[in-house]
Amino acid sequence: MEENSVSFIKYQYALKMLETEVGILLEDFSHRHGYNPVEHIKSRIKTEKSIRHKLEEKNLLYTERNILLHVPDVVGLRIVVSFLSDVYDIVSTINNSHNIIIKKRKDYIANPKESGYTSYHLIVLVPIYLENHVEYVEAEIQIRTIAMDFWASLDHKIRYKFPNEIPADVSEAIQNYAKDIKEMDKKMYQLNKIMNSYQENL
Ligand code: GTP
Ligand code: MG
Repeated sequence: MEENSVSFIKYQYALKMLETEVGILLEDFSHRHGYNPVEHIKSRIKTEKSIRHKLEEKNLLYTERNILLHVPDVVGLRIVVSFLSDVYDIVSTINNSHNIIIKKRKDYIANPKESGYTSYHLIVLVPIYLENHVEYVEAEIQIRTIAMDFWASLDHKIRYKFPNEIPADVSEAIQNYAKDIKEMDKKMYQLNKIMNSYQENL
């Protein structure tokens, strides 16, 4: 297949739709629960360089079709929350959306990756309303706690610094810290539960 120029416009529409829909769902969540679980939200369109890199790794040409079939995260949204329980509450909130369709769920909290990476991933279909038809664009939503985000950000730096092989001591350390992060998330969750029980008794 010939290489061709790829239009990013649909991805931009999809990102706007996704940000709006998730923004409203989360605002409604806060309104109903009287509590905002979100620490911060980050969104991005994958750069052409990064898409090319991903396709090259799979020995595929940079074409619209290959991107569609092999790069599900051109559109990406990351929701960072305070507590473990918030991750699952947000997943079920998104699940209740009438606009976004969940195509795939990957619970890397229940099943961490070999690296130690934890997060909850959703591959979703986002509708974009064009002149005379609706199209669905794939997007990846990552939901994680602040602790998981802290870990992933350092892990990302390590992978960037050592693209070929991560030194054994560094790799061992980051894997151990994944366990520390997990313990810390559990403790914070318990402490929050205790705090809430005090509030109820006020
Ligand atoms: P790629 O790894 O992206 O080719 O696809 P995949 O099929 O493994 O998808 P997965 O859901 O595992 O990962 C998609 C995204 O999750 C990545 O682009 C990263 O943002 C994040 N991620 C997955 N594994 C790791 C990891 O070990 N460390 C870090 N820091 N991020 C990860
Ligand atoms: Mg991966």
